[in-house]
Amino acid sequence: MIDDGLPRIGVLISGRGSNLQALIAAVGSGALKARLAVVISNKPDAAGLAHAREARIETMVVGQRDYADRAGFDRAIAGALRTYRVGLVCLAGFMRLLGPEFCDAFPNAVLNIHPSLLPAFPGVEAQRQALEHGVKVSGATVHFVTPQLDAGPIVHQAAVAVHDDDTVESLSARILEVEHAIYPAAVQRILHESWRIEGRRVSFAGSRTP
Ligand code: GRF
Repeated sequence: MIDDGLPRIGVLISGRGSNLQALIAAVGSGALKARLAVVISNKPDAAGLAHAREARIETMVVGQRDYADRAGFDRAIAGALRTYRVGLVCLAGFMRLLGPEFCDAFPNAVLNIHPSLLPAFPGVEAQRQALEHGVKVSGATVHFVTPQLDAGPIVHQAAVAVHDDDTVESLSARILEVEHAIYPAAVQRILHESWRIEGRRVSFAGSRTP
């Protein structure tokens, strides 16, 4: 295992992996000063696994069917992350809820990116929910993960306009562009700036959000 002194990130995915690619690109460009130590998927056919392999990042598949219950599955993932000495966990399209035990194992060290301005439209198909609700602005949120779905303290958000002729696809594409910009930037700040959480509020010492 390479030890270059950089903070070590584990990325959890279930599918396409475009946010993983954004993290890989940010590490490559030096904008994100970290090592992507391992990418873990709960789906063996997740396209993101190929992106990780191309970038020579270690990969693992941990399928929930191999475990009797969610706690066992969570423990397996936490154990794998510990093996790779991961200090920060980034969920990037990981479609499983992580339980309290997992969150306790990585206190204030699990981030997620969600395609809406939380607390609006948590859960699946956030872009469809936003369109159907008729909002004129939506966006993306980077937040800490707690056992409650999409409800942890917010690290960063960015807004996009919702156009009258938007479809789920066009709105999702506009939001995804913003996701790819804010996720690596927020991860860099969490790793390299000083911050605190008071109640639900995350604040960075002496500077503004990216
Ligand atoms: C993104 O829209 C992310 O916000 C959500 O799941 C999607 C994952 O896309 N949590 P990708 O796998 O990163 O391309």
